[in-house]
Amino acid sequence: MPALYSLMLRRLLPERFAVVGVARTEGDDDGYRNDMKEAVQKHARDEFREEVWAALAENMHYLATDFADEGGEDRLQSLLERLDEERELGGNRVYYLAVPPGAFPTIVDALGRRRSAHGWTRLIVEKPFGHDAESARELNGLLWEHFDEREIFRIDHYLGKETVQNMLALRFANGIFEPIWNRQFIDHVQITVAESIGIEGRAGYYESAGAIRDIFQNHLLQLLALTAMEPPIDFTAESVRNEKVKVLRALHTPGPKSVVRGQYGRGFIEGEEVPAYREEAGVAPDSMTETYVAAKLFVDNWRWADTPFYVRMGKRLSRRETAIAIQFKRAPHPPFEETSAEGLRPNVLLVHVQPDEGVSLAIGAKVPGQGMTIRTVHMDFLYGGAFRTGMPEAYERLILDTLLGDGTLFTRADEVQEQWLLVDAIVAAWKRDRPSFPNYAAGTWGPPSADDLLHRDGRSWRRH
Ligand code: BG6
Repeated sequence: MPALYSLMLRRLLPERFAVVGVARTEGDDDGYRNDMKEAVQKHARDEFREEVWAALAENMHYLATDFADEGGEDRLQSLLERLDEERELGGNRVYYLAVPPGAFPTIVDALGRRRSAHGWTRLIVEKPFGHDAESARELNGLLWEHFDEREIFRIDHYLGKETVQNMLALRFANGIFEPIWNRQFIDHVQITVAESIGIEGRAGYYESAGAIRDIFQNHLLQLLALTAMEPPIDFTAESVRNEKVKVLRALHTPGPKSVVRGQYGRGFIEGEEVPAYREEAGVAPDSMTETYVAAKLFVDNWRWADTPFYVRMGKRLSRRETAIAIQFKRAPHPPFEETSAEGLRPNVLLVHVQPDEGVSLAIGAKVPGQGMTIRTVHMDFLYGGAFRTGMPEAYERLILDTLLGDGTLFTRADEVQEQWLLVDAIVAAWKRDRPSFPNYAAGTWGPPSADDLLHRDGRSWRRH
């Protein structure tokens, strides 16, 4: 809703449309509008303007129904048909499915059976998309019974983030990076998706997902795919996704020792004591769900062979930070005395996905004064400084793209499948041992074994 409001404010929504909220909770149009108004006032990135809200709210409706209720289906269909006729919507529909996995088959089947005979139909599917490769395959089978792949928009909201799309601009709109974007010049890549929040009351979902399914399977692997992919021939949905899927297919982890998992214990976040994961409401006191994963991955192709991609993600880490760090190899033969470059680190191109969105290049520079002392300094591009407009929320872009029928920033079935195959391999290896959880305190940077993962290779995680 905040995203719809921001689109409305910028006059990006079509002239004629209607929004129908469907859920099990009893309610009516007015109650729905009031709840959503509060949510928009609280969460939208833009100032609240009564007239903008009124124009949106008059197009909003609510229907309470259970998923499996045939009568509810009939009522929904007649409401949609009535709105369609009144507003001359031409039969065009976007169904946004943010539903529990168990309800998915019933809903997809009902929508498919009752799909409108005219206009277009598109389906936005929220995560989780399955639980493993097998269940994802089944879900796809179900979707394809009624819908074409081009009508299915699987959301990975990281792809809607400006800074994530900027990875493509950075790599493919500049001539200087691509020639050195490979194993010859890059020592390794580090990708971090760190959150300071916990599970925010979502134990029901998180207990069976864990960090590997919540972040690694989707957001993290997509960041990696965009970093490692070959230049697409154009920016159409199929070209971009063809390149990403090749990376996902080539990904592997060298073995169980290359994947570390963790779970947070009690600790402090910004000075406040927070409970351990096992103490969160709805979490089993002996839960073995991981809230942290670090892994070493390789992309088996000519560009990247033997170049490690170290990735880590976790809840209740020291602070919120998503970043991709490309670490280049050291200069082959610095002609200075060793002591002059003691404060010099290798060149790093750091893409700050969030917060402090921007790109920063670490280079060596001479410290002013006598003699030759070299230190690392940063060349920074900050979105806030370079552009005056605020950053759109990922969902604004993704909802608009769905209305326009552009699937470039959504994940295709084969990508999701490849992502699951890697996760399945990791999870299968985990079955063989039982780490002692909790193994990191809230407010830290994860378990010590994650540091060992890099130390073994003579490297370390980027300092914060
Ligand atoms: C969601 C996960 O997909 O992404 C959440 O389910 C996580 O657990 C969230 O907190 C992070 O998104 P963002 O946009 O805040 O980085």
